[in-house]
Amino acid sequence: MVNRREWLMGTACLPALRGAAPGPRNVVIASANGLRACTRAMEILQAGGDTLDAVIAGVNINEEDPEDTTVGYGGLPNEEGVVELDASVMHGPTRRCGAVAALRNIKTPSKVARLVMERTDHVMLVGEGALRFAKAHGFKEEDLLTEKARLAWLVWKESLRDRQGHSNWSDGLDAPLKPGAWLRRKFPGVDEATLAWAWEVATNPPTGTINCLALNARGEMSGVTSTSGLAWKIPGRVGDSPLPGAGLWVDQDVGAAGSTGRGEENIRVAGAHTIVENMRRGMSPKEACLDALERVARNFQHDRSRLARFDLVFYALRKDGEYAAASLWNGTIREGKLVPRRFAVNDGAGSRLEPCAFLLERKA
Ligand code: GLY
Repeated sequence: MVNRREWLMGTACLPALRGAAPGPRNVVIASANGLRACTRAMEILQAGGDTLDAVIAGVNINEEDPEDTTVGYGGLPNEEGVVELDASVMHGPTRRCGAVAALRNIKTPSKVARLVMERTDHVMLVGEGALRFAKAHGFKEEDLLTEKARLAWLVWKESLRDRQGHSNWSDGLDAPLKPGAWLRRKFPGVDEATLAWAWEVATNPPTGTINCLALNARGEMSGVTSTSGLAWKIPGRVGDSPLPGAGLWVDQDVGAAGSTGRGEENIRVAGAHTIVENMRRGMSPKEACLDALERVARNFQHDRSRLARFDLVFYALRKDGEYAAASLWNGTIREGKLVPRRFAVNDGAGSRLEPCAFLLERKA
């Protein structure tokens, strides 16, 4: 028998939320770069903290880490060599959200997004306005471009050639050289591993991001998504991460979802909102993520050669603690080997990586 509240909240067809499943518990999930974020968030949940405090504290680790070149400080810059950050937060219990986009010079955009939620009557601030707002609240401006990210940006700039192999950013004499020799000559002081990484990100611009979702034992949920966005983007480009409904969605009655990967394709299916609504209609987190990915494939008429040019990962955490992640592709090919996609989980027994479900399979 469906009760009046379930009917009104649209959760009537969610069997797991109607008493069959165990009650809520502390669970944090995140993208694969979020192992430390999960650990930090779980510590806060276990101490009785708020779910939004937990996920933001977790994601701050990546935002402040110069080695994570897809988030915050050290993120890969736009085409002009300037780091621009996007982030969104959603707090289930109060049903509020906040976001910033194309924010420069502030290491922790998730904290600014939270302030937009708590200290304004708006949901999203962008660009110069977001920076002024952050400074008004005491954030310090810092140059977010690390030497490593600047090197990768220069390699990208200098790799852009016309049909004759010319570039305004090269001396014009190096065109016949193979990438390895050309790179070594241009950047003599840089080690091989860093050069190989710079060439990889220059020629395959990453859209890495961190998404982190939390549920506590009281059944409260929150989420955050934070990114430096697509490397070498046009200044002002905004991806899915700061867009409520695309990069992040939390519905306190049902669950939470988020995304990493190519934001443009996620925006075109409103991925996170689609997944939460799928769960409301009774799909498991895995089914809900795969259905959203199927919509992405449909947008390309299931043309594998075009779909092969990007990847997208969805993460879902249901209010009863069930969770999943699913990627468009089963993994990435590195040095001829398939590296399967994984995501981070912590349900109280330490952070670990678990395999993502996937829609499409590629072979090494
Ligand atoms: N998902 C991150 C971005 O596309 O900006």
